[in-house]
This record gives sequence, C-alpha cells and structure tokens, in this order.
Amino acid sequence: MSYTVTLIPGDGIGPEVMAAAVRVLSATGVAFEWETEPAGIAAIGEHGVPLPPRTLESVRRNKVAFKGPTETPVAGGHRSVNVELRKKLDLYANLRPVETLPGVKSRYTDVDLIVVRENTEDLYSGLEHVVVPGVVESIKIITERASTRIALFAFEYARTHGRKRVTSVHKANIMKLSDGLFLDCCRTVAKQYPEVKYDEIIVDNCCMQLVLDPTRFDMLLLENLYGDIVSDLCAGFIGGLGMAPGANIGEHGALFEAVHGSAPDIAGKNLANPMAVILSGAMMLDHLKEHAAADRVRHAVHTVLREGTKLTRDLGGTAGTTEIAEAIAAKVTG
Ligand code: NAI
Repeated sequence: MSYTVTLIPGDGIGPEVMAAAVRVLSATGVAFEWETEPAGIAAIGEHGVPLPPRTLESVRRNKVAFKGPTETPVAGGHRSVNVELRKKLDLYANLRPVETLPGVKSRYTDVDLIVVRENTEDLYSGLEHVVVPGVVESIKIITERASTRIALFAFEYARTHGRKRVTSVHKANIMKLSDGLFLDCCRTVAKQYPEVKYDEIIVDNCCMQLVLDPTRFDMLLLENLYGDIVSDLCAGFIGGLGMAPGANIGEHGALFEAVHGSAPDIAGKNLANPMAVILSGAMMLDHLKEHAAADRVRHAVHTVLREGTKLTRDLGGTAGTTEIAEAIAAKVTG
C-alpha cells in the first residue's frame, strides 16, 4: 500500500527540514508517493499567489499533507498561507504535543502536555479596518459551533489517549461575551466526559503557572490566539522550536507541520534542526494508522538525542540538518 501525500516544502528552512523528514520517513519502509506543491513566498514567483489553487486541490484530493513553514510578511503583504489553508480546508484542530525528550538540556523535566488550539476563527479572521485615521478595529469572532467542535476534539482525544484533565484557557473576565461563549461550550462538552477532569484558568495566570511548573497541567484547550502564543511558550520547555511537532486536523483531511516558522536567520545554511518536522512526520504515520513505523521514528529520534553526538546548533551541537537526518534514518533502519 502506498500513501499519496501532498508535500509542501515552504520557505526559508522549509525545503531543508522537509527533505530531512522525507529521508527519515522513507527509511521506515512505508511507501509514500509525494505530490510536491508550492506555497508561500516560493509560490509567488511562479504562480503569482502564495497559495496556488493546485496546492489546495492536491490537499483536498489526498486528504493528507506534510508542510514546511511558509513566510508571512509583517504588517502588510499577503495573508498567511497557514491561516488560508486551515480555513479553506476547515482544519479546525491544531494539536501540539509537548513532551520532554531524552538528552535535551532544559530547566524543565517530565513535561508531558497536549496543547489543543482552535484553528479557524478568533482574531485570525483577518477582519481589520481603519475606522478613522489613527483608529483601527480588529474583529474577534468566537462561535458556538467552532468552540463546541474544538472542545469535543479535546475531550475525545483525552478519552482515547488516557488523558486525565482538560484545562480551558481564557480571558473571560475581560472578554465576557466572546471568551464567555467559549467557556460555556467547553463546560457543556465537559459534562459529556465525566471520566475526564475539567477546569479553567485565565491566560495570564496560565503563562505564569506554566513557567513555574508545566507538569501541573495535562491538556490545555485554547482559542486560536492564546493557543498560538502558549504553544510557542511550551516549546521552550522541551528545547525550543526545533523540537515541537504539530498537526492540523479536520473532518476531511489533516496537515502535519512543525510549530516553528521559516527561520530566515538560519535558512540555507544546513543549521536547522529537522527533529520537529520529523516528529510531525511520526504524527502523520499515526494518523495513517502506521503506528509501528511512527514508534520507530520517535524511538530513532530519542536514541540520537540520548547519544548526544549528533545534535544541531540549537541543542548545543555542531551537526548539520542533513547529518541529523542520516543519523535518524540509520536508527530507523537499524
Ligand atoms: P521562527 O520559528 O521561524 O524562528 C524563531 C527562532 O527559532 C529563530 O531564531 C530561528 O532560528 C529558531 N528556529 C526555528 N525553527 C528552528 C529549527 N528547526 N532549528 C533551529 N532553530 C530554529 O519564527 P519567526 O522568526 O517569528 O518567523 C519567521 C517566519 O516564519 C515569519 O514569516 C512567520 O510568519 C513564519 N511562520 C510560519 C509558520 C508556519 O508556516 N507554520 C509558523 C510560525 C512562523
């Protein structure tokens, strides 16, 4: 059996880390047919737009995509390809596991968190306008439908993965209506899952509590913006962005990508850590029900980390992206 997957190399370090991940996935023996499609700055030159229709069609057809980071200009320029992809394909659940990895130096140990972020609305609706010169309005959309759906995703995940507690993160003391609606939906869904504990925390306090002791949380359930910020914060517990994998999941498809961006500061230098995308690849294997292969990939990453002789610069080593890929691929086959 062969899986046809849309492969989006992306911008900056994207092509380097994606090539590394493809190398490791091919070492599992699981057969992939990669449909390579452009997106991001890389696509504008040839196709005139950052998200060409052919790329969307490919993901719609294959239902599974493996994506490198894409660059989004700050304050102006085109809209984020990620936001477009997540909305157009209705990939409503962003799943970001944050787990302490062997051998990685960090002030934190035994971190084992699951961050579930709503992916389609909130302040990412892109509804911004100038009211009068000097006054800008940016609209935050929260709906009962999307909030209920993401809460159901989180509690179903908890039930099927033996998680004990879901904590909703909010600012309903200030945004009483929007975050209030989000919390109402979470509470209603929580009642359907009596075996999973449910509690709530205000987002600023959550950040402080996380930095003090991330092990006091199990699963975090957040709206889009808080989820974006808090998941980067959580990546800091496990060695940084080079180590944090992710998945965007919907009813009709799934897209796997690391939490990190295109890292223009280190692009094209063979310095990027490919482990986050390789671990995202393991999540993709799990999604395809290739659990044994997924476990082999994770085990190979852990072994390379534990040995500590082949590490990229962000982890204190001197190895290049390609060397790490070869070392992990060798453990997968070995
Ligand atoms: P970034 O994640 O690209 O980089 C932040 C810092 O982490 C940089 O110092 C970078 O060198 C380092 N870093 C990131 N990934 C690394 C890796 N694999 N190995 C070693 N070091 C790594 O975030 P930044 O600078 O805020 O964003 C750069 C661009 O990426 C922006 O255009 C942004 O919009 C885009 N972006 C795209 C994402 C996606 O496509 N999913 C997600 C986040 C940002």
